Amino acid sequence: MKQICVIGTGYVGLVNGTGFAELGNHVVTVDIDAKKVEALKAGKMPIYEPGLEELVERNVRAGRLHFTTSYEEGLKDAEFVFICVGTPEGVDGEADLKYVRAAAETIAKTMTHPLIVINKSTVPVGTGDWVADIIRNTQPKPIPFSVVSCPEFLREGAAVNDFMHPDRTVLGSLDKRASEAVAQLYLPLRAPIVMTDLRTAEMIKYASNAFLATRISFINEISIICEKLGADVIEVAQGMGFDKRIGHHFLQAGVGYGGSCFEGDETVFVLDDDGFVNAQPLRAFFEDVTDEYIEVIKPQGKRVLSFNLETGCPEVADVFVVTRRPYQGDMLTIKTSMGRKIRVTYDHPVIRLTDDGFERVLADEIRPNDQIMMLKMLPELASAPRQLNLIELLRVSELANDVHVSAIDETFTQLYAQFAQYIPSEMLRHPYEIKQNNRMPLSVYWYLVEQGVLDVPIDKLQIYTAKDSATKLNAIIPVDTDFMRLIGYYLAEGHISIDEGRAGAKRHRIQFTFHQDESEYLDDVRDILSRMGLKFIERNNTNAQTIIVSSRIFAWLIRDYLKCGTQSHNKRLPRFAFNVSRTLRYELLRGMFSGDGAITPVNQGKNLIIEYATVSKHMADATVLLLQSLDVIASVRQRMMNKSKQLAHIIRISGYEQMNRISTILGEKRSEHIQNILKNYQRRITPHGYEDADVFAITHVVDIQRETVDQMVYSLKTSLDTVITAGGTIIGQCFPKDVSALSYMAQTHGMHPQLLNAVMEINDFQRKHVALKLHDLLHDVNGKTIGFWGLAFKENTDDIRESPALAIIKMLMEQGAKIRAYDPVAMPNAAEEMPEIVMCNNPYEVAEGADAVVVATPWNEFKQIDMERVRKLMKQPIMVDGRNMYEPAKMRELGFVYRAVGRGYNGEGIA
Ligand SMILES: NC(=O)c1ccc[n+]([C@@H]2O[C@H](COP(=O)([O-])OP(=O)(O)OC[C@H]3O[C@@H](n4cnc5c(N)ncnc54)[C@H](O)[C@@H]3O)[C@@H](O)[C@H]2O)c1
Repeated sequence: MKQICVIGTGYVGLVNGTGFAELGNHVVTVDIDAKKVEALKAGKMPIYEPGLEELVERNVRAGRLHFTTSYEEGLKDAEFVFICVGTPEGVDGEADLKYVRAAAETIAKTMTHPLIVINKSTVPVGTGDWVADIIRNTQPKPIPFSVVSCPEFLREGAAVNDFMHPDRTVLGSLDKRASEAVAQLYLPLRAPIVMTDLRTAEMIKYASNAFLATRISFINEISIICEKLGADVIEVAQGMGFDKRIGHHFLQAGVGYGGSCFEGDETVFVLDDDGFVNAQPLRAFFEDVTDEYIEVIKPQGKRVLSFNLETGCPEVADVFVVTRRPYQGDMLTIKTSMGRKIRVTYDHPVIRLTDDGFERVLADEIRPNDQIMMLKMLPELASAPRQLNLIELLRVSELANDVHVSAIDETFTQLYAQFAQYIPSEMLRHPYEIKQNNRMPLSVYWYLVEQGVLDVPIDKLQIYTAKDSATKLNAIIPVDTDFMRLIGYYLAEGHISIDEGRAGAKRHRIQFTFHQDESEYLDDVRDILSRMGLKFIERNNTNAQTIIVSSRIFAWLIRDYLKCGTQSHNKRLPRFAFNVSRTLRYELLRGMFSGDGAITPVNQGKNLIIEYATVSKHMADATVLLLQSLDVIASVRQRMMNKSKQLAHIIRISGYEQMNRISTILGEKRSEHIQNILKNYQRRITPHGYEDADVFAITHVVDIQRETVDQMVYSLKTSLDTVITAGGTIIGQCFPKDVSALSYMAQTHGMHPQLLNAVMEINDFQRKHVALKLHDLLHDVNGKTIGFWGLAFKENTDDIRESPALAIIKMLMEQGAKIRAYDPVAMPNAAEEMPEIVMCNNPYEVAEGADAVVVATPWNEFKQIDMERVRKLMKQPIMVDGRNMYEPAKMRELGFVYRAVGRGYNGEGIA
């Protein structure tokens, strides 16, 4: 008898837990759903699965099976823990791994002794390694564990039998001993056990599913040809199946079995190692982690700004995968009010806001007036430093060897005698120079500090490089309002140049250029630079006044540490722009707007707007989000700059409340002007173009454009399935699973999986085909009543995930049909998902007054139906049998207009 813990009591967890108990083990199953656990304790089954209830009851009575919500209780004596939590599918078919992550984290936090963790949830290839990483990184202290992948192959409706009589068990692990221990659990089942590595085991699950899907799609395609040519697919399949190389399984025609991307230029908000948020093009994010041309990569430790659709709050999400691949197909540009844009492949999930909450739909399904959200609230982020200690920061920079430290007050000269003897001669040939010049190389400074023989308060130190000894800089720079404004001025009016100075030395020059009239800003820059200890020179020409600082360190600080760029086109917000307080964020914007902002009067000078223009897309995208974090919703436009022929991004702020909020953004002088006009605002027009919803602002889709492209596209998979893009747009991530995931993985590795792609296309068509048949028979489904027999994705289960019935119902409802339905067990689940369906008590009630009935799930009880009665109840005797349940000739005899799948209507056939 082994001690087993099973996490998750869904179809897989409950069947496995009960199965292992039946084999004589002691099993504790854990689920976070307290209601489910309570129900199980009271002997009520949370799912419908034939034969399971009796088995649960027997094992609970024998004391071998327990249910709890407590991981402590579950893991207390366990040697094995099975992860059986759900991996629901997003619209793009991706596996949502958040439950697996949560389970792994809780196991890591709760475990007190070594464990073998077995993953039964269906997860993308490589996830086993990821589970191990999560456990390792979450454990408060290291406790040994192994991860084994044991993919689940059970079929709902026959799950108990499948557990007891599996065709095979697949075990994958890097730890052979762990696999062997798990194999012992399965030995009593006397089925073949395949032992392999983690990734191969995960791949076996995908390849098996893809193969089965291929068989179904194959026979479905044959069925469509049969219909056209008048052959009967059932007999075709039978005839084929007797061939031993083919076999009968999975050759039943029916309604089918149950990659999307961004452009490289899309802005994402990436957290760096310090937790600072940087707006980055997806292309650069990808190239940061790999230089491969096409790749699927799992970047370690990368995080992005994201949005939790469950809590409705912003969050930081882990990036699981980034990909790049060539794409030929349709690209959609979804334009919303406030000039915002989403540009994605047509099948990319987009999040829209509806009366019922957030809805994830394909870009293709987005319609004018749909509501798209722009994030306003930032998630909790690491705080930016209150001050920059340049001595510390430069120590690990490439400038380290060139930097000198000097002390104000001649301190080094005075203390020389105390520390001189400790300086190794190989470190400094002429130590007395320290005394002479009151300065020392950075490396010597650190050496002496670490020896404990030099202790000068840092605020008494200055630094400079040997080549520009004239430009000293305080060693400590407070990150305060002055500093943020200075960076803002730099972003608007500054640039960095490197030119040949005297004797061929490279000079790094930071220049701030303002209009001569802008004395307020010029004075401000002069003051701030002086306070930082920096010397500068000034130049003036016709209209402009330029302040020039010649300092490699200052250039390094702006360009390399803050990553603000050097020229207008590559400007970026400083690396901690989102991590500073509201006040500092505003000061940064103040500097930027003072430099590059303009007040434009509108409405004959009675109203005004403030505009800010930049040619850097990513700075514009980030600035819009930064403004939103201060409750200012700007509109965005692009315009060609006349002179430079560059595309400028224009950020425009309007509306009384907003103007009031930022009236000082252009400095004191212009603030007065703004206030004066605001006083005379006739009407405080409420802003149009967006609505404020605290956490986000809502914009409306105004236009959708489609174009066919041939280009590289990028995708991102995050732990929350969403990502924040340009200007704070909350959008779905992209990443597909199973057949589509397999095809996708192949494509991103340069292959062209024609068969898998065709399989997906056929499956998709098979559902549409049923809808088309109804169109043919009813001419127009609008206003018609269509009955459905069966809602579950297959017989003997209440599971509606991936159910063709619901997919077809959705299509028909969109075209105005009214739906009535009956399913012996799946109605409660379906009603939750699609409350618009009228649920009936039996198949006859469905038929009452119906214009057509669709057979969607092959439940046994549908075989025994009194068809005569059904025909009389129906308004029109039209039946589309998606599961080939009935004899076409007989149905015709009974007076039905009957359509099955692949049963030759147009030849000599039956219809
Ligand atoms: N259902 C099938 O036929 C089938 C077949 C093969 C593989 N799979 C795979 O097995 C996995 C489970 O599928 P299912 O159909 O049993 O899912 P399910 O949704 O029926 O059950 C999942 C259960 O896990 C619980 N859960 C979620 N997070 C938890 C946590 N952190 N701790 C404890 N419990 C948690 C949920 O409350 C739920 O009861 C999925 O990955 C699925 O793809 C399912």
